[in-house]
Amino acid sequence: MTVTLADTHRANPPGTRRLTGLKPTGRLHLGNLVGAIRPMVAAQYESESVIFVADLHALTVEHDPHRVRELVLEQATLLLAAGVDPDRSLFYVQSHVPQHAELHYLLECATSYGEAHRMIQFQERARRAGQRQVRLSLLTYPVLMAADILLHDTAEVPVGDDQTQHLELARDVATRFNRRYGPTFVVPRAVNPPAAARVMDLTNPATKMDKSHDSASGTIFLLDQPGAVRRKIMRAVTDAQGSVRHDPAGQPGVTNLLEILAGCVGGDPVGMAGDFGSYGRLKNAVVEAVTAVLRPLQRRYDELSRDPAYVRRILVDGAERAREGAAETVHRARRALGLG
Ligand code: ADP
Ligand code: TRP
Repeated sequence: MTVTLADTHRANPPGTRRLTGLKPTGRLHLGNLVGAIRPMVAAQYESESVIFVADLHALTVEHDPHRVRELVLEQATLLLAAGVDPDRSLFYVQSHVPQHAELHYLLECATSYGEAHRMIQFQERARRAGQRQVRLSLLTYPVLMAADILLHDTAEVPVGDDQTQHLELARDVATRFNRRYGPTFVVPRAVNPPAAARVMDLTNPATKMDKSHDSASGTIFLLDQPGAVRRKIMRAVTDAQGSVRHDPAGQPGVTNLLEILAGCVGGDPVGMAGDFGSYGRLKNAVVEAVTAVLRPLQRRYDELSRDPAYVRRILVDGAERAREGAAETVHRARRALGLG
């Protein structure tokens, strides 16, 4: 049976499907939660959602196979604990759906070396690791990310703003492919969360909170105990100005705390600045807000992690469902390119 783009659109009207992936390269942190996970969880009640553990992406950097396997289960469990509902969302592990890798290759044939090489994240990581050490898959990883997105006829991708450039690449590739080979893919767009699109490192507010960072003191991990959360926030870098203002350039540390607060409790981080007379008060409010978000999540995580077989079953079911739609998309792309 030939499935056309029009058929797919009838089944999933464009504009309704959202997708995100999280790499099992380290432990999930507050930036992942407010930048990606919570927007996805909120969206699953109003639109079709796809959320997957991006294990293929974890192989683009030096990795320990045993640790990747462990992190995949931990992440999947945390995502369920954070409210991902497998009955409402397509929820699975990327490598269980081989169409991601197949579409990756097909899209590489519609992407130029220059486009991939230009990506800021690649440039930064290649500079850090050195040209000889950096894996070829790190260069092509934005194309895999484009495949992840296009595979599911995704309309919207909620991402932190570190991923905006990769999203642009996915749009460019989809648009070019459709123009050159005929309408095949839905062209996706990025959506940023209303607050805390970029949660910064608490000890160095010039860089984003990142699970691949060594600095555990600047990153709030989702499984951090309340004592650790308090300690990290109370030690967060501020400045000598003494007044609480939302000023990303002049007061990056204080601004980050306001963004985190707004990301946790909702509301406008700029307006919130007026509520606090001192850095101490602001920090206490942030400790309370973050702890209130993490407490129920950790309680649910503890329950779920007692039954890993249950989590694995959910992932197996999710992959099975994901493969159906994914196979249709790959079929369309293959035909458009002259295969089969
Ligand atoms: P990391 O960058 O920590 O390795 P991932 O690459 O797995 O995390 O990112 C998963 C999702 O979390 C992406 O959508 C990304 O934009 C978002 N994200 C990552 N770090 C942050 C951050 N500091 N602030 C906001 N969102 C973030
Ligand atoms: N590349 C993303 C990151 O590093 C993770 C990711 C993989 C992703 N595939 C995706 C995010 C598809 C959104 C959509 O953060």
